[in-house]
Amino acid sequence: FAQEPTVGERKQVDNVAHRGATAYAPENTIAAFDLAVQMKADYIEIDVQRSKDGELVVIHDTTVNRTTDGTGKVGDLTFEQLRNLDAGSWKGKEFTGELIPTFEEILDRYRGKVGILIELKAPELYPGVEEQVAESIKKRNLDKPKNEKIIIQSFNFESMKKMNKLLPTVPIGVLTSNTAHTTPEALQEFSTYADWFNPSYGIVTKELVNQVHANGMQIGSWTVRSQEAADFLFEMGVDAIISDYPDYVDPRN
Ligand code: G3P
Ligand code: CA
Repeated sequence: FAQEPTVGERKQVDNVAHRGATAYAPENTIAAFDLAVQMKADYIEIDVQRSKDGELVVIHDTTVNRTTDGTGKVGDLTFEQLRNLDAGSWKGKEFTGELIPTFEEILDRYRGKVGILIELKAPELYPGVEEQVAESIKKRNLDKPKNEKIIIQSFNFESMKKMNKLLPTVPIGVLTSNTAHTTPEALQEFSTYADWFNPSYGIVTKELVNQVHANGMQIGSWTVRSQEAADFLFEMGVDAIISDYPDYVDPRN
């Protein structure tokens, strides 16, 4: 009799939309985040910085030059100046009028709908940003364990140690692409305050995945821009894949 086709067993991996569904819409805008939700991402990833007058805003680069029609450093522009920029048309004229979102607007719009992976981008440029982020999260009770999925991550490890003290119940992630941070000593030290070790995929090996797990952390890797890279990370056994293409990570595809 005919043999049943084998269906591969694949572990559940969080599908994280890097700056939203960035391949298809302008990164770090409502258009990109809404599309990620529509594409059934488990998390959206956002980059948080601060305006000159203290508003937390969502943008990746430390200048507005690449992703808006303006110029200058994010931290040198007032919120009003930032909010007057067009953050969509560089990606295509159908996105004209997309704005730089505020951090609080993103929390309010997406909480309960999708997980939010919050990156503090260059927190060393914004003294006190950790307290401000913690305040916005606490005000909304998002630090209560039963509540929605949020994770806070950064390349700045001191900032993440501080975040862990401010919000002990919120999972913390450390970001790196440096193999010097994959030694047993380094991983052990990260595990004293972090729940996630999030490396670029170029340094991911099965051994690293096992070591991260042995230290009680989960591993999420970035930035996937091809099906091959997604498949490699599934094969390595990571817990989350951070991708510009949520469709490459969707187990239904
Ligand atoms: O979430 C990981 C990834 O966002 C880190 O790199 O430069 O895209 O913020 P970057
Ligand atoms: Ca990021």
